[in-house]
This record gives sequence, structure tokens and C-alpha cells, in this order.
Amino acid sequence: MTKLSKRLAALPSYPMAEIPAIKRRLLAQGVDVIDLGAGDADFAPPAVAVDTLARAVRDPAMSRYPFQLGLPVFREAAAAYLRRRFGARFDPFSELHPLIGSKEGIAHLAMALLDAGDVAIVPEPGYAVYEGGTVLAGGEPYRYPLTPGAGFLLEMSDLPADVVRRTKLVYLNYPNNPTAAVAPRDYLARTVEFCRRHGIVIAYDNPYCEITFDGYVAPSIFEIPGAREVAVEFHSLSKTFCMTGWRLAWAVARPELIAALGRVKNYVDTGAFLAVQAAGAAVLPQAEELAREYVARFQERRDALLPVLRAQGFEPETPGATMYVWVPLPDGVASAAFARRALEDAGVVTLPGSGFGAGGEGFFRLALTVDTPRLVEAAERLGKVLSTV
Ligand SMILES: Cc1ncc(COP(=O)(O)O)c(C=O)c1O
Repeated sequence: MTKLSKRLAALPSYPMAEIPAIKRRLLAQGVDVIDLGAGDADFAPPAVAVDTLARAVRDPAMSRYPFQLGLPVFREAAAAYLRRRFGARFDPFSELHPLIGSKEGIAHLAMALLDAGDVAIVPEPGYAVYEGGTVLAGGEPYRYPLTPGAGFLLEMSDLPADVVRRTKLVYLNYPNNPTAAVAPRDYLARTVEFCRRHGIVIAYDNPYCEITFDGYVAPSIFEIPGAREVAVEFHSLSKTFCMTGWRLAWAVARPELIAALGRVKNYVDTGAFLAVQAAGAAVLPQAEELAREYVARFQERRDALLPVLRAQGFEPETPGATMYVWVPLPDGVASAAFARRALEDAGVVTLPGSGFGAGGEGFFRLALTVDTPRLVEAAERLGKVLSTV
């Protein structure tokens, strides 16, 4: 028997890894499955992305290794977007790094920062890669429960002093997956201040910054004074532009942190496909306009789904951002059992809160990834499940 690494054994099982297999079985049985699981909307990517990619793949130069430099115009377009959108000025070459999706960069950052015994603060519920990246890097995750009463905010001053002493990294993600919470500026300011005082790096995971509703505009952590000293921010084309499969994102931070991430990546990958970077460079100059169109459609879906969910007996808050609705379950109903019933009995894929860590128990997540009539149908089917739990 091959003895696998302790790191692998320490990884929690990937949330709902069994869903695709169950879904396939149900589809094969002729069940009409509505999939509101992954945050992967059904909208087409922007025409400018598709057209640029189609042209770029015909250029043989685009088929060469990207290396870590990648396509300079992509770096420049990302830096120009940050400047225009957030007033944040970064050098596209020493302070910004293209990624093969932000998941990749988030996981690899931990390898650049953590040694055995170092702690990373992991919000729970939260994106699985925070804990997974920490464990694979040999660090120690400290799980912080995000609760509705605290606005789902990760409050650094709550941490025990002995944990703070060993903490090198904290993962923050607002607008938040899965809770859809957003971070007030004064919260960000006190968190940056705390991390500066204690020498803790903030991995600010910001893939939903353009998916905001009702006039809310999400900030960059770099709008907060002092953040440059401590933060690495991750941006992604995946969610805003419905380009999840294209795998394109970037990290931005001061040169020392970007160089550290680049050093790890040099040994594990050779960069995102150049033709995809060319497409990204064509999208970013129009980012805000393109995002507005997608967001209007997400908002329409949100506004159609919520009244039906409520009529069915659920009590979700109205999300102010993201493509998710975080729905509380009645006391005593286990989220994994509910999600399983939703799938097996009603043909609706949801994600149970417990799949985002134990702190997510008592909730399930719906993604606004299918059109309105299907969302309404899903909510009605879920109501039937609720009435029998
Ligand atoms: C909070 C969060 N961060 C990062 C990602 C990863 O995005 P990407 O496609 O850029 O790897 C996701 C995707 O679900 C996410 O929800």
C-alpha cells in the first residue's frame, strides 16, 4: 500500500465532491435536475473575450509558454482597471501577477508564507481553498466562525493572544462566498490596523467586487490606508465575466509579496494560456460596463427568487452582493441531510452550509446560475422538501 502524505490525510474532504456523480445518476434516470450548486452562471462570456480569443489562438506566438511574465498588455490592463476603479496605483510588473484562476494563487500564497507551526486564520463558512492551501503548505488552519449576529465579519480582535502570536496569514473575502455579506469600511480599517500591528498578511479574496446590488459598490482593500503594507488582493475574471473555465485572474500586492508568490509559481506552473490573457486584456478596459449588464441579470434573478423562497417558508436575507443566497434552515435540520433530500427527492442541487466548514451548519447556499423560471421552479421544489423535514 502506498503511504500518502500526512498533508493529504489532513485535508478535509472537498465539499460535496460526490454531487457530480449523484447528479449524473439522476440525469441518467431521466430526472430534471436544476443545478444551483457551483458559482458558475449560465451567461455567455463577453463577445469581446470570445472574439479576441478566437483571433489570438491563430497566432502561433500565443501558443508558446507564457512563463510568469505572461502577456504584458494583460498586466497593464489589470493595473489600469485597479487605478480607474479603486484609485489604487500598482506597477503592472513588480506589483501584479497573472494567475491561472485565483484559486491557484490563493493556494500557492500559503506556500510562500507558512512554515510548520504557523497559523492561518480561515473563515468558516468559507471557500475551501483557504483551509486546503494552508494544510498543503504545512501550516495550521485556525477556523473562525462567521455568524449572522456579527454580520459574518471575521473580527481579528476576538482571536486568543497565543493564536495571534503564531498567525502569519488571514483570509478575508467580502463580498463573501457563501454568506453574501459585505464588509463596512470601518471594519476593513480596524482589520488592516490589527494586521499591521501583528505582522499578519491579509489575503483579500475579491472575486465578487463587481457583483453588487442596489447601488452598493464594493471596495478594494487597497482603498484602506496602510493596506499596502499587509495585503495581497486577488481578482478574477471568472465570476464577473462568466469566464470560470478560462482560468484567468491576478494577484496584486507590494513587490516583496508578489515576488514571493511568483517564486512558488515558477516551480509549479508556467502561466495562464497567452491567448486567454489577450482576451482578458480586451475585457478589462470595459470591465465596469460589461459587469453592469451581467449584474442587472443577476439582480433580476435574485428579485424573482427571493419572494418565492419566502412564500415557501424559507427566511433568507436579501443578498447585497455576489451570486449567492444563503438560506437558514429551521433549528435542528442538518444541512447535509437537507441538501441530500433536495437532490435525491426534488432534483435540486444546493450546497449544504456544512460543506463550507462546520461554521456553515444551519444554512444552505443557492447560486443564481440558471434562468428565472428554473430558479422559481427550484424554490417551489425546495419548499416541498422543507415541508417534510
Ligand atoms: C471566494 C472565492 N474565491 C475564489 C474563487 C475562485 O475563483 P477562480 O475561478 O478565479 O479560481 C471562488 C470560486 O468559487 C470563490 O468563491
